Amino acid sequence: MDLKPSNKFYVTTPIYYVNDVPHIGHAYTTIAADILSRYNRLLGKDVFFLTGTDEHGQKVEKAAQERGKTPKEHADLLVGNFRSLWVKLNISNDAFIRTTDAEHIKTVQGLIQLLWDNGEIEKRQYSGWYCTPDERFWTEKDLVDGNCPDCGRAVEQIQEENYFFLMSKYQERLIKYIDDNPSYLLPETRRNEVLGFLKNNTLGDLCISRPKSRLAWGIPFPFDGNFVTYVWFDALVNYFSATRYLAPHAERAGLGDFWWPADHHLVGKDILTTHAVYWSTMLMALKLPLPNNIFAHGWWTVDGKKMSKSVGNVVDPNKMIEKYGADAFRYFLFREVTFGLDGDFSEDALIKRINTELANDLGNLLSRFMTMAEKYFSGAIEIPSGSTTALNPFARECIDAMLSAMNDIPHRHWSNLRFNVILDHIWEIIRAGNNHIAQKEPWKLAKTDIKELKDVMFNLWNALRLTAVSLYSFMPETSEKMWKQLGLKSLVVETKLSLPEGDDKYPGIYEWDWKPDYEIKVLKGEQLFPRIDLTKEIIKEKEPQPMTSEDSLIAIDDFAKVKLKIGKILQAERVPKSKKLIKLQVDTGEQRQIVAGIGHAYAPEELVGKRIAVVTNLQPAKLMGVESNGMLLAATDNEGVLSILTPERDVKEGAVIK
Ligand code: MSP
Repeated sequence: MDLKPSNKFYVTTPIYYVNDVPHIGHAYTTIAADILSRYNRLLGKDVFFLTGTDEHGQKVEKAAQERGKTPKEHADLLVGNFRSLWVKLNISNDAFIRTTDAEHIKTVQGLIQLLWDNGEIEKRQYSGWYCTPDERFWTEKDLVDGNCPDCGRAVEQIQEENYFFLMSKYQERLIKYIDDNPSYLLPETRRNEVLGFLKNNTLGDLCISRPKSRLAWGIPFPFDGNFVTYVWFDALVNYFSATRYLAPHAERAGLGDFWWPADHHLVGKDILTTHAVYWSTMLMALKLPLPNNIFAHGWWTVDGKKMSKSVGNVVDPNKMIEKYGADAFRYFLFREVTFGLDGDFSEDALIKRINTELANDLGNLLSRFMTMAEKYFSGAIEIPSGSTTALNPFARECIDAMLSAMNDIPHRHWSNLRFNVILDHIWEIIRAGNNHIAQKEPWKLAKTDIKELKDVMFNLWNALRLTAVSLYSFMPETSEKMWKQLGLKSLVVETKLSLPEGDDKYPGIYEWDWKPDYEIKVLKGEQLFPRIDLTKEIIKEKEPQPMTSEDSLIAIDDFAKVKLKIGKILQAERVPKSKKLIKLQVDTGEQRQIVAGIGHAYAPEELVGKRIAVVTNLQPAKLMGVESNGMLLAATDNEGVLSILTPERDVKEGAVIK
């Protein structure tokens, strides 16, 4: 294979922390990278699509400790959740990097050594305010009411020696670079934020080591065994190190800088600064080219609320795929919201789009066409000889929409990652197809003009073929299903290889006049997207679970022994040194103190004033030395979501529950 850097496309996702299971945010970036990769492969480019996991640092060390595992054992277990989700979502990544890979570790150490040898790193006595959960130092003036400005938690003063990357000296160069390269940081609003920050603040140097005594789980510093590498320095290097050992043809000698720099680093808005500032200046110091683009996408809320474990609204992509299929989920995420802006996820909105756009517009067009093709011509489609574009306004409409969706020049939708605009253009073809049927009324032509009917069927077949090609990057399974039903051989993904050479602007597969060299016989298959009954979907979720044999039965007298009352929470505070326990003062007709194990799910402030269900005749008990008189009722589901029980109406405290 002839490898030319001008013909390569390298895209990355962030590498995900293995302290948690994957959620919609992880899926979002990874699908975006997948869409770009598939599009570029169709264009005939050499693609390297990299994703992976970030496995060092305090967060992972802590998560492992909580599970009684070593950090590596813990990472080995959790990495499987990401890998299996990517398979279910049809993610076509070429490699999966883990920062515990020996080759990555060697590259990080090599680069630190290089920076040290070139005087880009200095060892300094350092004193500052440290936020342990965020793994970040802050200066006195950064603090808000003495706490971490990022997460609001307490910070501690730490004095220690550390290694610093001399980032500050690159401030002016970075500003100039961003000014001179308008598409380096996108979207523009985020670019302006970074520029504003850089122009109005003095950039400090970056502490890139952690004393081993404080954090053992990291890449050892190459020339000082008392330190490990700061997790962000280690993580950012993954984009470069993977090109050395994981990229296609990486083993080929002499390829050197074939893959570097990346075309797009896709990241969430919260980690733009680490990429735009730390990574860019690290690359400058290493004398390596900067990536062509860093794109920061927005965040998803869920049903209007911030996604959080304690609220219990974290969207598990596995569940969405099980219920609606990978393609519908992929489509929704990129149709619903402009890539770059924040968006809101709800199953209602997802179902609406499935019913209107996927089942109605797309699914109906295909199935109506199939039914007619089978009815009138037993599935045979006659491909006219010569060009059919001229004098065919329908063809013109489809071609224009196709070019707007697929050809990056002159619209630049693809280089600017305007996925929803691209989908809009694809839907122009689909709508044109449905209109064509309405206007031409093929069922009438069947009685009056068979020649014209043949033309109409060919037009529709061709419009559906272009739709399948252009949808491929977004919905690969659907695209391949359509391709097969349309009687086309091989797969969309392979087709370009068997095509005659297209011209320079766009390959032949995108052209209206492209013709297969075999006879076409279409074959109706299963419906692409069956309609979902919204009311049934909601009822299904609320159906009570049948009682199982494990639920042993008790007599009513047994139940009557338990005295239950409504209580109102007057005060709430955490039990010192406990993450789980909260001490409550509760009015149940008389005031009582209750200690409840709900600290993981609720903050004390949100409890005050709530009415709850309380068992009032329990013998007193001591929890971590604090007396508890009674117990509140709470429910926990399979996913660990915990909710206290509150009365549905405003009954007074002291009311008896029976
Ligand atoms: N390990 C670092 C990245 C290092 S890259 C060199 C990290 N990992 S993460 O697992 O915490 O987050 C990964 C990504 O998930 C981030 O891009 C973040 O923006 C994204 N999201 C987390 N919650 C999100 C939403 N609610 N919505 C969309 N994306 C979100 O950070």
